[in-house]
Amino acid sequence: MQPALRLVRTGRDGNRPLLPGPAPRPAAVPAPGGSPHRDRAGRVLSVEGLSLAFGGTVAFAEIDLAVGAGEIHAVIGPNGAGKSSLINAITGLYAPQAGRVRIGAESFARVPAGRLAALGVARTFQNLALFTGLSVRDNVLAGLAAARRAGLGAQILGLPSARREARAHRAAAEAVIGRLGLAAVADRPAGSLPYGLQKRVELGRALVAGPRLLLLDEPMAGMTATEKAEMTGFIRAARDRSGAAIVLIEHDIGVVMRLSDRVTVLDHGRRIATGTPAEVRADPAVIAAYLGLADGEADAAADPAADGGADGDVAEDGDAAAA
Ligand SMILES: Nc1ncnc2c1ncn2[C@@H]1O[C@H](COP(=O)(O)OP(=O)(O)OP(=O)(O)O)[C@@H](O)[C@H]1O
Ligand SMILES: [Mg+2]
Repeated sequence: MQPALRLVRTGRDGNRPLLPGPAPRPAAVPAPGGSPHRDRAGRVLSVEGLSLAFGGTVAFAEIDLAVGAGEIHAVIGPNGAGKSSLINAITGLYAPQAGRVRIGAESFARVPAGRLAALGVARTFQNLALFTGLSVRDNVLAGLAAARRAGLGAQILGLPSARREARAHRAAAEAVIGRLGLAAVADRPAGSLPYGLQKRVELGRALVAGPRLLLLDEPMAGMTATEKAEMTGFIRAARDRSGAAIVLIEHDIGVVMRLSDRVTVLDHGRRIATGTPAEVRADPAVIAAYLGLADGEADAAADPAADGGADGDVAEDGDAAAA
């Protein structure tokens, strides 16, 4: 009998099992019709043939990705695979050299970053991007800055329209703070909170405007298992509540398997697989990307009969963990 496989990702976080057993996932929220935030096929986001290089360094090339309303779509891959660059291109921070990004009914060669809020797009960053000296409440409120309609003059003069808007924004922020369990720390400077709570504040800032498309770049990085479980619950609840399309970059494959409806795998800037979590974890190319196996070896690893045949699951603890 061959030694059982424990798939580990190589690189920064190393030694994490790639492919734990399946877990039930809630069905995607069906897309209601007629929204300007979705195209006719119900997709909120379509990426077509998107390519980006920095000089001679290819960040990613010819990427296709489609995410529907209510879908949590994980983007995974080893360090440097191009995951963050893809989100940065989808949000207009980077200018791709080729391809299109379609958000709802609008198609762009480069998404206008200044219109993200109007397009119903919000994101979090791989490295926290909070106003550390401001309170949790003000950080969450910052997620509504682009939605502010009242001009500066109206705000300074305290005109009724500006006051109404400020009240509505405060109520929206309080609601998100409550849902994310941040009420007890709402007045504290964000920078004084433990890291896991700061990640939660950033999620709150992204959620407060009610985005149709939410892009989360490693929202659980550096968290304890308990914090990850909580964050998983918050993300799922946000999806269930809003029906937003969610792109989730995550290295913890256990989280990916439990939380996502579909998974796209990048390796060295190329899309090597897209499918359900179960399909992707059985894909020899994915296994090879994580283990650095040659093609033939990866085929053997994906073959249920080759790992002892317990349940057709290639993820078993064993000697390969040390690889
Ligand atoms: N602003 C930039 N300037 C130059 N090269 C960049 C820039 N951003 C990313 N790259 C390069 O593009 C490639 C993809 O990087 P990216 O950060 O997108 O990977 P990633 O999949 O998010 O990795 P990680 O899991 O480590 O976060 C890498 O080779 C990286 O060095
Ligand atoms: Mg990244």
